[in-house]
Amino acid sequence: MAPYIGTAQSRVDGIAKVTGAAKYAADHNVAGLLHGSVVCSTITKGRIRRIDASAAMALNGVLAVLTHDNRPPMPDNDEAYKDDTAPAGSPFRPLYDDRILFNGQPIALVVAETSEIARFAASLIQADYDQAPHVTDIRRRLDQSVPPPQAKDPLDAVFLPPKPRGTPDRALAAAAVRHEGEYYVPIEHHNPMELFGSTVIFESDGRLTVYDKTQGVQAVHKYLCSVFSLRPEEIRVLSPFMGGGFGVALRPGFQAVLAVLAARALKRSVRVVLTRPQMYVLGYRPAMIQHIALGANTDGTLEAIAHDAVTVTSQYEDYHRQETGWSGLLYKSAHAKYEHRLAKLDLATSCDMRAPSAASAVFALESAMDELAVALKLDPLELRLRCYSERDQHEDRAYSSKALRDCYRQAAEAFGWHKRSAAPRSMREGSDLVGWGMATGVWEALQVPITVRIVLTANGHAEVACATSDIGTGTYTIMAQVAADALGLPIDNVSVKLGDSSLPQSPVEGGSWIAASVSNGIVTTAEAIRDELLHLARQMPNSALADAMPADVALSEGKLVSRRDAKRAVLIADLMRQSGVDRVSQEKTTNPNHDATRANNAHAAHFAEVKVDEQLGIIRVTRIVSAVAAGRILNTKTASSQILGGVVWGIGMALHEETHVDHAFGRIMNANIAEYHVPVNADVHDIKVIFVDEPDSSNPLGIKGVGEIGIVGVAAAIANAVHHATGTRVRDLPITLDKLQR
Ligand code: MOS
Repeated sequence: MAPYIGTAQSRVDGIAKVTGAAKYAADHNVAGLLHGSVVCSTITKGRIRRIDASAAMALNGVLAVLTHDNRPPMPDNDEAYKDDTAPAGSPFRPLYDDRILFNGQPIALVVAETSEIARFAASLIQADYDQAPHVTDIRRRLDQSVPPPQAKDPLDAVFLPPKPRGTPDRALAAAAVRHEGEYYVPIEHHNPMELFGSTVIFESDGRLTVYDKTQGVQAVHKYLCSVFSLRPEEIRVLSPFMGGGFGVALRPGFQAVLAVLAARALKRSVRVVLTRPQMYVLGYRPAMIQHIALGANTDGTLEAIAHDAVTVTSQYEDYHRQETGWSGLLYKSAHAKYEHRLAKLDLATSCDMRAPSAASAVFALESAMDELAVALKLDPLELRLRCYSERDQHEDRAYSSKALRDCYRQAAEAFGWHKRSAAPRSMREGSDLVGWGMATGVWEALQVPITVRIVLTANGHAEVACATSDIGTGTYTIMAQVAADALGLPIDNVSVKLGDSSLPQSPVEGGSWIAASVSNGIVTTAEAIRDELLHLARQMPNSALADAMPADVALSEGKLVSRRDAKRAVLIADLMRQSGVDRVSQEKTTNPNHDATRANNAHAAHFAEVKVDEQLGIIRVTRIVSAVAAGRILNTKTASSQILGGVVWGIGMALHEETHVDHAFGRIMNANIAEYHVPVNADVHDIKVIFVDEPDSSNPLGIKGVGEIGIVGVAAAIANAVHHATGTRVRDLPITLDKLQR
């Protein structure tokens, strides 16, 4: 059996997905299922004066209209609504009271026999409001922006700006070459293909089985127990398959609260599915106004970096990430300072969206670096190499590994970067201007505590179980690969169970941390299985492994084998039969082996080609080469797809994506995927993904994760290519053709 880790294994859940056997949250049917339709606020701020549900209730097939007025009791304290990833503040409480905090806020749930009746009835609900003035424009709140709240614990502290170093103001003033610029990233939305939905099955004994779209079944389980004062065994949350999360399903969605509320009120099974527009108030990438100042020497080394940012959050919660620190991490600079402020607007709370903070911040940094390269008359890649940082300067420590130089070299070579002509507007093809740009990407390599259970049966089958999610990224597949290698089994003999709150503990799937966490967790548990088998083997009469120590034996091809002498082996099936056991089962928790003396980051280099129609300003991204250093790559096929997805998202960020709020009404104007533009096939051309070799020992398998690194830097590489093609620098995303016509 060849090892599976590192191969291009196809998805083990692929057939289930393409045949429709894989059911999503809203696909689960039970007899007598009721359907909920959500009614949303049409004002942005104020109070509900009255909700008239009489026309809806008069319809045949409508069972209930739940509002803040008639809902069953709910807790009256913020703590009860705090989910695992809640920011500081006062979490939103669905259908709690008459206060309106944002446009599109759920104000009622219509429950009916069919989804059609529910939706029609929802359209008949009349609400009267007392409106209050609102502000939804970041630029109208800059004066009143506030710093992020003090961190309550070390986990929170990582989201505050790093400490400044040196004397940045003096160094900037004295720098031979300076570049300063303001960069803007608009509000963006995740738009996963799968709509948010919850199917709550009201079991005969009153327990609830909840199929919910979530990146963390146990986080939702804990949250629902808290909001509804349930004992853990009274409710089970499942999410075995997901059609994309990207961060918007990290926090529990209000569809789950509404569905459980209705199921408990009516003692019936209820499904609530949000419409596409309703998903736009679940969360979004915060708009971000950034200012960057770079001070350099004439030789292209950096002296000083100053990066400040204002990001958007709600009035009621202070969502933020460490937005600005990426700058002083990525490039060597003796002097650096950072500032981060929050503009609190009358919108729902912003949230994590693929590579939160880095995707936005590195767009600004890498655009600014390109502008500095122009000012220095230096090749942009050469500038990055001269500013290359061997150490994490925030903490003054080495990296566990950093093969970014290899990323630059391999991507540049594959792209043909040396053929670039330096001057803007100097490359053409027919009537198109051709531009080549590049940028760096960086993300964290994280690991979280996780528990894995393995049950190995005498027939050579293993079941691997953990409450983590597969948000579409391939978690099932890598878990099967790692387990097959660790247990010495064919991959077809491994079944994976995940996405169920009753399984062994896992945090939410986010931050690109699950591959490293669950894979090392599987190895730990497989070692416990091996130890138990060895314990049995040593008790067998005339055992070939009588004096073997755990570290001396491995599981391979259905056998327990001495690493020193392959002839000393016992068949696991024989061993179990003779020992009178039909299965061995182990459940182990694996904590990160955190070495504070090393920084753990993944890196990438992106090279982009654009062709710009000179008359019309139409931009096509014709080629991208992305080289990624992310430690050990478990599965070259699914990992490559992850990076491709990130790069495509980078194209969207650069050219298409922008959520428009009508500030007069406080309402999102393009809350649908017809008017919120994402890249489609016609926008996506040639993308090449390269994984560079990067041995890493920050965890036993050397995994860093690839969920987010693919997007970071792509928008800047494209913006830089657009500047190279046209001579026009666009600092506010997306780069639409009107911005090229100035
Ligand atoms: Mo990711 S934005 O942590 O789902």
